[in-house]
Amino acid sequence: MRPFGNWLKHEKSVKSDLHERLIGENVPEHVAIIMDGNGRWAKARSLPRLAGHHSGMLAMREVVRASDDLGIGYLTLYSFSTENWKRPLREIEYLWRLVDEFFALDIEELVQRNVRISILGDTTELPAATQTTVNRALAMTVNNTGLKLQFALNYGSRREIVTAVKKIAQMTVSGELTVDHIDEAVFTNALATAGIPDPDLLIRTSGDQRISNFLLWQIAYTELYFVQEMWPEFKRRHLEEAILAYNSRERRFGGLK
Ligand code: IPE
Ligand code: IPE
Ligand code: MG
Repeated sequence: MRPFGNWLKHEKSVKSDLHERLIGENVPEHVAIIMDGNGRWAKARSLPRLAGHHSGMLAMREVVRASDDLGIGYLTLYSFSTENWKRPLREIEYLWRLVDEFFALDIEELVQRNVRISILGDTTELPAATQTTVNRALAMTVNNTGLKLQFALNYGSRREIVTAVKKIAQMTVSGELTVDHIDEAVFTNALATAGIPDPDLLIRTSGDQRISNFLLWQIAYTELYFVQEMWPEFKRRHLEEAILAYNSRERRFGGLK
């Protein structure tokens, strides 16, 4: 299935001019991305929104490859929010088909690259076929030790927080935990991201400067980086620029220099 395949050819994994400049720079351990602007990218080209999503999938492929090449430890991609169900059914269905297509076409390469895939969000609400593809991808990469690639699929941070609160409440009811023992570490471990370091860098494309219910607890001290480019325009060199910008920031975590 490739209804929009002629509009954008697959791009090869090529090193950009910025690559050399990045040697010796710190690469953030965890990069999270709000991949926004697919619809506006398409609209500006008089294309249907779905074409924007298809191009967005190709951009995602390039960014995954670049992240792996750069040695990023964790890449978390906001792919579908709990609020995105408000969109027209046709668009939602197409997004699930794109998930199917991405995993079908890219899984071999991801396995070869030693990438480990995981999911944040409730996949039980996804169409059965998509759940099957996702579960297959998880199983195929479960023993991999390279880049940790997390897809936030049907993810909402508020829902994640409420789920964590319920889990902790249940543990106190069952006597596993006393109220006095609830602290930040207990809460962090009750989240879907338990065991994963907080993002160092959060990128949002499309010029909008908001978080849209993404990783609210986890980004307490994350560096935020907003770019004007729409997600389908975001290339390897934009990721490299983001990393250079990140390296010019001073992270103080409330302390002094
Ligand atoms: C991001 O692009 C993709 C998803 C939210 C699934 P949008 O579809 O939100 O594109 P805009 O923001 O309408 O341009
Ligand atoms: C955030 O983008 C969600 C994803 C990128 C998956 P939205 O397009 O849904 O965010 P809002 O509605 O502009 O805040
Ligand atoms: Mg949007």
